[in-house]
Amino acid sequence: MADRRVDPDDGAAYTWEEFSAFYKGKYKRKAVEEYWEECKPVKKSKAKKGDAKGAGKGEPKAKAKVKAKAEPKAKAKAKAKARKPPGAFKVCVCGGAGGIGQPLSMFMALDPNVKELSVFDLNIAMVPPTGVAADLGHLDKKSEVKGYVCEVGKPAVTELDKECLTGCSLVLIPAGMPRKPGQTRDDLFKINADIAKGLVEACAKYCPEAIVALIVNPVNSIVPAMAELYIKKGLDPMKIVGVTTLDCVRASKFVGQITGKNPNFINVPVIGGHAGVTIMPVFSQDKTAATIDKDKIEALDKRVQDAGTEVVEAKNGKGSATLSMGYAGARLGRSILAGLAGRRRVECAYVKSDITDLPYFTSKVVFGESGVQKVLPIGELNEYETTRLEAAKVALKIEIETGLTYAKANELNC
Ligand code: NAD
Ligand code: LMR
Repeated sequence: MADRRVDPDDGAAYTWEEFSAFYKGKYKRKAVEEYWEECKPVKKSKAKKGDAKGAGKGEPKAKAKVKAKAEPKAKAKAKAKARKPPGAFKVCVCGGAGGIGQPLSMFMALDPNVKELSVFDLNIAMVPPTGVAADLGHLDKKSEVKGYVCEVGKPAVTELDKECLTGCSLVLIPAGMPRKPGQTRDDLFKINADIAKGLVEACAKYCPEAIVALIVNPVNSIVPAMAELYIKKGLDPMKIVGVTTLDCVRASKFVGQITGKNPNFINVPVIGGHAGVTIMPVFSQDKTAATIDKDKIEALDKRVQDAGTEVVEAKNGKGSATLSMGYAGARLGRSILAGLAGRRRVECAYVKSDITDLPYFTSKVVFGESGVQKVLPIGELNEYETTRLEAAKVALKIEIETGLTYAKANELNC
């Protein structure tokens, strides 16, 4: 049976023939092929079931044949009406020459929704950002890539070429110090909060409407700090988004390893925050993860919580997760841009929230044309998860306080 894949644009499954026929003339064949590669395959067992059902109903062959021919056409017509053109967005990666910044910049340069990419870093970065831009500028993609540099110690808001951020719809910020073995993410707060503030200040001045996606740690404290600074400046705090996608990527991978199932079909929401016990995978909400024996859940939960430390220790003092984070950051970045282009996407993210009694929380978020469109509720939890949530909230509350205190003592100078 032919491979069928789900087009996230409308959630329906298509064969390559149907898919390519629909997009023919609208996009270059190469772009259509790349998009096809991104679409999740339909599980064969499921597809067979559907076929068997149809056969069981005794549908005449001729009718089925006509339907098979007519349906893609009708669908294509409906889709043509609903479909929005691809985006032409400007994106900036701050810290774009760093460990995360380089792979993240590469993934973003590949996104068909990106028209222009700014790679920004300091003059002390391991590679000049203009060099990273020159390198990525040779990819045969529509994005134009430009590098920008700022002298270390000088404020980006006055020293950075204003062209870097002006017109950006999305700014991804992995700029900041990574952990060394023995450190907690919280240990990075003092130095990284000041780095983040310098960059958020420049965003507030040059692209106040942009979504600012903060990867820099500790996310649990830096996001509240920056969002509250936006509020003080009269800007929209929902533009500040904490990137926790790597926790979802890891949870799905580990569930795949335990169950022997393809992680491509697994999507475990991870709620709470991004450090230790605040990282709370909700295994019961994914149908594969929900099949795992109860007595294995606590260890699996702990593995997701400690996954960052696993990488920090394996890198032995030479940094933390960079490649998997570049991948995860780009997944969120792509979803945000798809949303801005009118194709809504749902991803877990750490944002200002009123779905619990904490003012900031990670849960599923709908990204749409204005960025964060809706913060979705936690959904149903089992007994283990209900208890876990309480522990996560106790720790998260303290880390949010750190951010709120910083915001009280500081302001954006722009
Ligand atoms: P890195 O040291 O390899 O890169 C950081 C880059 O930021 C460097 O190139 C540096 O020059 C640049 N930089 C520093 N200050 C800057 C400034 N003011 N303006 C512009 N650029 C600046 O570090 P990394 O491994 O890429 O990690 C970056 C951050 O991401 C760390 O804080 C790390 O803890 C965090 N992180 C978060 C997650 C997550 O899931 N949210 C995952 C992994 C790492
Ligand atoms: C991660 O989860 O990999 C990051 O937060 C980096 C770290 O310090 O663990």
